[in-house]
Amino acid sequence: MEGSSYSPSEKSISMEEITLGVCYYPEHWPESMWEEDLDRMLKSGIRVCRVAEFAWSKFEKTEGVFTFDFFDRFLDLAQKKGMKVIFCTPTATPPAWLTEKYPEALNAFPDGTLVRHGMRGHCSHTSPVFLRLCGRLVEELGRHYGPHPAIIGWQIDNELNCETNMYYSESDSKAFRAYLKEKFGTLERLNEAMGTVFWNQEYTSWEELFVARPTLANSPNPHLLLEQKRFVSEATIAFCRLQADILKKYRKPGDFITTNGLFGHLDYPQMNEEGLDFITFDSYPNFAYSLDTSVNANATASGRLRDRSSGISLARTRSISSNFGIMEQQSGAGGWQTRMPQPIPKPGQMRLWAMQSIAHGADYVSFFRWRTCNVGMEIYWNGILPWDNRDSRQLRELSQLSGEVKKISHLAGGRYQARVAVCYHYASDWDGEGDIFYGPLKELSTTNWFAACEDLHAPMDLFCLREDLRGEDLSGYDLVVLPHIALLSEKIAAALQEYAEQGGTVVFGARTGFKDEFGRCPMTPTPGPAAKLVGGSVREYTLLPENAPEQAELWGESVSMPGANEILEAEDSEVIARYQTGYYAGAPAAICKKLGKGKAVYVGGAFSEETARALLRETGMAEPYGELFALPEEIELAVREKDGKQYFFLLNYTSESQSFTCRKPFIQLLTGERWEGSAALPPYGVAVLSKAE
Ligand code: GAL
Repeated sequence: MEGSSYSPSEKSISMEEITLGVCYYPEHWPESMWEEDLDRMLKSGIRVCRVAEFAWSKFEKTEGVFTFDFFDRFLDLAQKKGMKVIFCTPTATPPAWLTEKYPEALNAFPDGTLVRHGMRGHCSHTSPVFLRLCGRLVEELGRHYGPHPAIIGWQIDNELNCETNMYYSESDSKAFRAYLKEKFGTLERLNEAMGTVFWNQEYTSWEELFVARPTLANSPNPHLLLEQKRFVSEATIAFCRLQADILKKYRKPGDFITTNGLFGHLDYPQMNEEGLDFITFDSYPNFAYSLDTSVNANATASGRLRDRSSGISLARTRSISSNFGIMEQQSGAGGWQTRMPQPIPKPGQMRLWAMQSIAHGADYVSFFRWRTCNVGMEIYWNGILPWDNRDSRQLRELSQLSGEVKKISHLAGGRYQARVAVCYHYASDWDGEGDIFYGPLKELSTTNWFAACEDLHAPMDLFCLREDLRGEDLSGYDLVVLPHIALLSEKIAAALQEYAEQGGTVVFGARTGFKDEFGRCPMTPTPGPAAKLVGGSVREYTLLPENAPEQAELWGESVSMPGANEILEAEDSEVIARYQTGYYAGAPAAICKKLGKGKAVYVGGAFSEETARALLRETGMAEPYGELFALPEEIELAVREKDGKQYFFLLNYTSESQSFTCRKPFIQLLTGERWEGSAALPPYGVAVLSKAE
């Protein structure tokens, strides 16, 4: 819509009913198995298969010679059986002939060494020859398969920016130069914006500019690095758009175009706006139990919440598409031969994780994968069926789940209900990755907010702050939190003020607004554009050692202030918290200013769970469904609303049974039972309740 801000609800999946699917690789199995596979899938409730995302050679084994018969046969069989198909463009796995003949298509490591054939995602989205070959292939696929009746939608590439989200080939430097020229016009403006006066980095010719190359101490110009990330996002979006524009010419009316996963240096709302109908996510909650700590982000960041903290990623997906799909839902143990080792999900966990996705707004859930591959890097990445193809525990769990999903399938299109929003902002995230002084605070605070909201059963959204934000975009929320948005613009601050004046509470964390759009620090008091809103400023700032947070008294309660501390000065605001420890004991730690019908709060630290809980209580957001349920912290409450009716998902991520109380009569939709008073969820159990009429 012209003139209005980005709307995640307009970029949503539109399924008539909640639907289950599976990722299938016809090229991995003898063709003689296809029919039996499809029959078994259908029998266990699978209605859609995703295919072809890595199958370039099935279409173009030799340059320029296109063959379609392999997938024609698969699609015709699917059609005959009544299986729907999501067809993919296989551009994540360019073949060996391509990279041998056109090595300039390959991505490179920072020192310029080419990334070679043998894995996936090895080409660069700016290589003219790669773009030409991808464009031609997608054109062929679109023209040939577009009309096929079995197809219901298209997936572009696979997990854009997954294997890497930085690109260092010659074509990237060339395209980066063009991007900078277009953006800054003159070298003078570029030098000014990039602060190149520091360490004598002035550029005197465009040819002197490159994507970040190896520097001593791995510390390139931070402003240029931020621009490079913006550029990566633009280039990846252009790559996606190139394909989407082609597919739009050929798809049948009603067929969708999407892509899967959420990865770095990619502005997803912009990508949705420019090419996609909605986003899908790949949900692997079992990473929380991985033995590989380098990928075990869920477990390390969220501590006790483990797989439950996948809800953060689902909330992020929802901030892009209110209703979305899960293109890959974990169904078994995970792990490559070389990394990410994970245990097998315990009985019930596969069903629990699928329900977690549905609870958070997924209307399509497609399991990864039908059968575990018996060759290659992913022989341990288990699917529904094992290599030996015998019926498995997962297959039984799938059958149970599909029976249950049928009972709630009418919830499709129902929206997740949240009155608390925690914001993120791409430019601040990307800048923060290169700034160890504030970058790490974001994950700490977001995770603590999520944990506090989970414990107090206050469903929480993530919200993507964009420059086109209007106050009314936030009107559904009572509480809006900006953890550490360093690159806060005047425009966003004005929209936040408008929101607060209408009755909302906006909460800022330390290091808000201290940088401008290029990551420079303007010579104005922090929090820059937010200073007026909060009626005060930061006088002093210090980092804290990881495990030694100071304490502050907030509304009579002692809360920890981890990560970083700021000594605040109140101007026309009220001091609501003072430090209790540290050399600044007694100094203001949080301030609050009334704005119209609402207020703005500034907290001079990262958010601990305690601070988040205190703010939830203060704004009436603790246990917002307390009239209906008395729930222990161990149970997640998620709410979806459809046609004015609320549906309550209760999820138990623990290995023990959890008791709770229903304070009103409910129908448990998965079993048809009436629940009132004392109730319990078994280990890894799920219930979906609606109020009894
Ligand atoms: C996803 C990817 C799949 C498969 C899976 C397990 O990220 O899209 O193709 O690799 O992970 O590793």
